[in-house]
Amino acid sequence: MPRAALHGLLALAAAPLVIAALTACGTTPQTTLEPTTESARRSLWLLQFVFWAAVAVFVVVEGALVYILIRYRRRRGDGLPAQTHGHTRLEIAWTIAPAILIAVVAVLTVPKIFDDAQAAKPGDLTIQATGHQWWFEFVYPDLGVVTANELHMPVNTSTEIQLQSKDVLHSFWVPRLRGKLDMVPGRTNKFVIRPEVVGTFQGQCAEFCGTAHALMKFTVVVESQADFDAWVQRQLDDRTQPASELARTGETLLASGGCVACHTIRGTDAQGTIGPDLTHVGGRSHIASGVLPNTTDGLRQWLQDPQAVKPGNRMVIPSLTEDQIDALVAYLQGLT
Ligand code: CUA
Repeated sequence: MPRAALHGLLALAAAPLVIAALTACGTTPQTTLEPTTESARRSLWLLQFVFWAAVAVFVVVEGALVYILIRYRRRRGDGLPAQTHGHTRLEIAWTIAPAILIAVVAVLTVPKIFDDAQAAKPGDLTIQATGHQWWFEFVYPDLGVVTANELHMPVNTSTEIQLQSKDVLHSFWVPRLRGKLDMVPGRTNKFVIRPEVVGTFQGQCAEFCGTAHALMKFTVVVESQADFDAWVQRQLDDRTQPASELARTGETLLASGGCVACHTIRGTDAQGTIGPDLTHVGGRSHIASGVLPNTTDGLRQWLQDPQAVKPGNRMVIPSLTEDQIDALVAYLQGLT
């Protein structure tokens, strides 16, 4: 075998190993392979069934191909092989076999689709999730809570998520909790999530929605009923009064700047509804729709240049001085 061909063959053989190594390493907070709900477990089971069925088909077909290529290869002195036309029994067999396999997949999949589409029961918690370019708004209509980019849910409780969009198609996806569902302008898609494990789960917009699509993330906090109730009580309060001179300066700055046109901070004159509600932004784990940690550095980075963090986003602000950023950071961190 020529050396170049050998190298090509080796590269081809190594490719799956390299891909496996690249995709399997590191932490994977958005994995469908570690389900924590009944719905997600059944999705994974279906995925595995279809995968192993495909592996079996691959092995049988490729095995037969390789065997036939070697066993019946042309040898020195061979003449023209016997010419045949069609093989009715073989053709019927390889038509029926895939049809049966696909029928089995359908029989297993269709009930799951219907189960996943089941409506909420009276008394279930309701959350309206609205997609915006490029952040998530969460409203709890029965509780009076409005928040953004961080969803809180009580464990072992069925919660109906009502999906909407303010602008373009988005998709709501928390891989460890459930399959994805589109957020469509002018239409409400619904599904029920019943989380079984307390913890924090990463969500992601899963439908291309513009330049910052990949940076449209959110966090789901699943907590005990008591912790959830305490969180709700906290959210219902107006903003915490600024505790320091610096934070007071921040509030004045925010009120006199353009911020109030887009953001709401209850208890102040800020009543805008274009951007996320900031009344309790200090209590969230991330800012900028999951892109930056909610730390002093994260807030500074965002306020220095929001367009550099998330290109194309609608927060267009004049450049701020270091002192102004210090005051705003102090204020926002106090809004717990
Ligand atoms: Cu929203 Cu992609």
